[in-house]
Amino acid sequence: MNRANEIFAAELDAIRQAGTWKTERRIASTQGSSVVVDGKTYLNFCSNNYLGLANHPAIVASAKAALDTRGYGLSSVRFICGTQDGHAELEAAVSRFLGTADTILYGSCFDANGGVFEALLNDSDVIISDELNHASIIDGVRLAKAQRRRYAHRDMGALERELQATQSSRLRLVVTDGVFSMDGDYAPLDDIVALARTYDAMVMVDDSHATGFVGPSGRGTAERFGVLADIDIITSTFGKALGGASGGFVSASSEIINLLRQRSRPYLFSNALPPAVVAASMTALELVDRDPGRPAQLMANALRLRHDLVATGFTVAGHEHPIIPIMLGDAGVASTFAERLKERGMFLVAFSYPVVPKGQARIRLQLSALHTSEEIDRVLAAIIDVGRELGVLAS
Ligand SMILES: Cc1ncc(COP(=O)(O)O)c(C=O)c1O
Repeated sequence: MNRANEIFAAELDAIRQAGTWKTERRIASTQGSSVVVDGKTYLNFCSNNYLGLANHPAIVASAKAALDTRGYGLSSVRFICGTQDGHAELEAAVSRFLGTADTILYGSCFDANGGVFEALLNDSDVIISDELNHASIIDGVRLAKAQRRRYAHRDMGALERELQATQSSRLRLVVTDGVFSMDGDYAPLDDIVALARTYDAMVMVDDSHATGFVGPSGRGTAERFGVLADIDIITSTFGKALGGASGGFVSASSEIINLLRQRSRPYLFSNALPPAVVAASMTALELVDRDPGRPAQLMANALRLRHDLVATGFTVAGHEHPIIPIMLGDAGVASTFAERLKERGMFLVAFSYPVVPKGQARIRLQLSALHTSEEIDRVLAAIIDVGRELGVLAS
């Protein structure tokens, strides 16, 4: 073992000792309301397959048809020879869906967030970011030369103070997740937009956990808060509700999108999305409009389980979203809770520090439109059972 590997091995030990070691669980089935792991079938409460489109027949058929007509790979970035008709059509479809002027595709939303700030903002500008924003926003902001400021999670007073303190800058961009994945709560976009108007700032929303199912017609968090037309930049993913494969985008004014096509490094220097993913994502968007029953079913599932958990005495974070964190506090209790649920055939995960703040360990359920009422009954009964066993609920 050379010196570098000894150093890395020590770091791996530290991760193990901190109890934050991550393991991959090998699933030998498609992604559905249940999954097969090590030959055993589990009810699945930890995927982002919100609308149940990850294995939808129409989406699989679109992907297969695109393989036949447009091939498997493009072996090029977009601006050399990696743009097919499907890419342009999908960009136009996203723009129509969100009511924006233009859209640019990326290999992932991580790339979209990684490529947006540096391309648009310089050292005369300021980025003001919710402290709980996704890692990809944090990384994207780090790459930009703009001044960085953070405000306490969803704290509009704190945001206003940052806006007041930065009035001499060229441009200010307030950036937030639409929905925060560890907490299942929403950014108060109506208040954020009002503040941004007052202080002449731009607003950017990463709507990865909302596009396709939040808001009256699935347009996302901004639609829920009635401010869809007031958001300057929307980023999101095809890797969750919209088929769940991969791909992300930025949707905004044509000036912003044109500038990203000139300058944004993950767009300029990374391969184009494969045709099958492009075609399937297009079908996913069409399904959201054609079949509003799915988002409705998902939200009904979420409201019902949230209500029943609270009624039974659990502390549930967030609000009206299919991300349902059950707050347990202690990291050991949270991991034992998840383990005992797994023994009862339920697949979900526990989170503790440093992924969430110290003392706020939790298990997190994510619901899908695919979950039946009987499946929700089963997970609820299992959670109550384990809750009593571990003394989280009075028995
Ligand atoms: C809020 C948020 N933004 C961005 C991403 C990254 O999306 P993608 O998987 O398309 O890179 C995620 C996924 O975990 C996310 O939760």
